Amino acid sequence: MGRCRRLVAACDAWLVVWQKGVGRDVGLRVVCCRRAFASKCAGFRSASGGKKEGMGAKTVVITGCTRGLGRAMVGEFLRSGWRVAGCGRDTEQLAALEREGVESGVAHFFGRCDVAREGDVAAFCAEVIGRFGAPQLVLNNAAIINGNAPLWRVDALEFSRVVDVNLKGVAALMRHFLPAMLHEKGGVIVNFSSGWGRSTSPEVAPYCATKWAVEGLSQAVAQETDGRVAIVALNPGIIDTDMLRSTFGEGAAHYPDARSWAKRAVPFLAGLGLKENGRSLNAP
Ligand SMILES: NC(=O)c1ccc[n+]([C@@H]2O[C@H](COP(=O)([O-])OP(=O)(O)OC[C@H]3O[C@@H](n4cnc5c(N)ncnc54)[C@H](OP(=O)(O)O)[C@@H]3O)[C@@H](O)[C@H]2O)c1
Repeated sequence: MGRCRRLVAACDAWLVVWQKGVGRDVGLRVVCCRRAFASKCAGFRSASGGKKEGMGAKTVVITGCTRGLGRAMVGEFLRSGWRVAGCGRDTEQLAALEREGVESGVAHFFGRCDVAREGDVAAFCAEVIGRFGAPQLVLNNAAIINGNAPLWRVDALEFSRVVDVNLKGVAALMRHFLPAMLHEKGGVIVNFSSGWGRSTSPEVAPYCATKWAVEGLSQAVAQETDGRVAIVALNPGIIDTDMLRSTFGEGAAHYPDARSWAKRAVPFLAGLGLKENGRSLNAP
């Protein structure tokens, strides 16, 4: 075990005892210092023992990283030297991402997490913060869409599932990352919306409802962060992914693929800052 890790481990053991005896605010400040220290250590050596990174390496969290836009963004961020933490439910894809992370030599963490499950989200976020400290960028990308149908033919359970993933999942990630990010100041949370978060079409009412809600949720939380963390909603455009194929069928092939989209979108996302707080953005 390296010197940094030994110090962090000793710090952790001491904190468990000490935190019981101090107020919540003091406890949070110390925990954030410990996390920042652990983050600097992670900057020297990756979580999987990869090559050294610069001290200034930033952390991006990508939900729904196993397919589509999330999967494509992982590769672009790793190539840009960002530490990447990602989640999804498909364990085979997560294992493939782990191999890609090791090959990149950049610190990374890919964990199984259903964003609709509060317990999964709490554990995933705690793991990310414990390894890397507060992230600089959180991409709330995971989402599902209902099968094409008018509302009266959408089963109540399916409707609930779309809300649980697309809306409550976004809220859960913000709930668990914001305390640490607000303490550090300067991070950005991007909540993936849609063209259907600003307009509507028939047969995708549950999806539209959640994406309009993501826009409202993002603007309201942006007013709560006092500008210390930027919260934005992003319409990524129209991209040929599994989700698009489920609504457009073969017509999805007329649109760009996720990899070419990520080449344009990742530099744009990496450049977002506090000045964007509360905005509804479109990916380039
Ligand atoms: N593609 C487009 O044209 C388009 C247009 C507008 C907006 N968007 C938005 O862009 C984002 C990405 O869409 P996409 O086209 O890449 O979709 P996609 O190809 O269907 O991929 C969705 C990703 O979300 C993950 N996911 C789904 N449910 C999850 C859950 N409960 N917990 C954790 N992860 C979950 C999936 O992984 P697992 O199955 O492994 O969980 C997968 O990695 C979404 O927010 C979508 O609404 C896309």
